[in-house]
Amino acid sequence: MATPTLEKVDSAAQEASPYITVVFRIRRFNPEVSAEATWQDFAVEIDPKERVLDGLHKIKWDQDGSLTFRRSCAHGICGSDAMRINGKNRLACKTLIKDINPSKPITVEPIKGLTVLKDLVVDMEPFFQAYRDVMPFLITKGNEPTRERLQSAEDRERFDDTTKCILCAACTSSCPVFWNDGQYFGPAAIVNAHRFIFDSRDEAGEQRLEILNDKDGVWRCRTTFNCTDACPRGIEVTKAIQEVKRALITRRF
Ligand code: SF4
Ligand code: F3S
Ligand code: FES
Repeated sequence: MATPTLEKVDSAAQEASPYITVVFRIRRFNPEVSAEATWQDFAVEIDPKERVLDGLHKIKWDQDGSLTFRRSCAHGICGSDAMRINGKNRLACKTLIKDINPSKPITVEPIKGLTVLKDLVVDMEPFFQAYRDVMPFLITKGNEPTRERLQSAEDRERFDDTTKCILCAACTSSCPVFWNDGQYFGPAAIVNAHRFIFDSRDEAGEQRLEILNDKDGVWRCRTTFNCTDACPRGIEVTKAIQEVKRALITRRF
């Protein structure tokens, strides 16, 4: 059998290379340099099976160390890398290049409705304040158990969907009501209130409902469904909001 030449091996390797050149068009903002945000293009060699987060890492590590974005787990768990990719809120670590048409520039912007601090990093404090306001923890009235609090499988199922939230803010920052003035509690806070309101072990459902009965609470939701479309955990966000509205009317939960 003929031994392959080095040139043939090189060219075969090149043909097999999965890498393509993709343009990342990133919204840049540095308040120390300019009051205006600008778009900047970066060409990146990347395997289409890699994720947008991998592309951002390649840019930061090889081309421009000043590019600023949040990420931690890189596996869809921590919720820190929600951003607007090709005009839609997504987690950069869960978005494959091949799924978002890499033949065109991929636009990457910060999520909307929250103040941009630098590049893709926004001030999450108003988002977390709304989360804290709904008291997202189990509240009982002094009946400390001597063993675990029992709950039927059926009762647990009642709020299973809303336990999946990772507080990424993709929902709240895709909601046009929240964009308008930022005062609306937002879908993520309501999802996390739902998680406790419908928990049979919790005893502060009425209090949470009153908090959400506020002028900036659930009644501001116009059932736009952007939040449900944006949720990377597949939570039925709008349905949860509707259930909270219904509980406010019937006081049954
Ligand atoms: Fe993110 Fe979904 Fe939770 Fe909203 S409900 S914060 S989109 S995980
Ligand atoms: Fe906003 Fe979702 Fe309601 S996008 S208007 S919170 S259904
Ligand atoms: Fe943690 Fe994407 S980096 S969810």
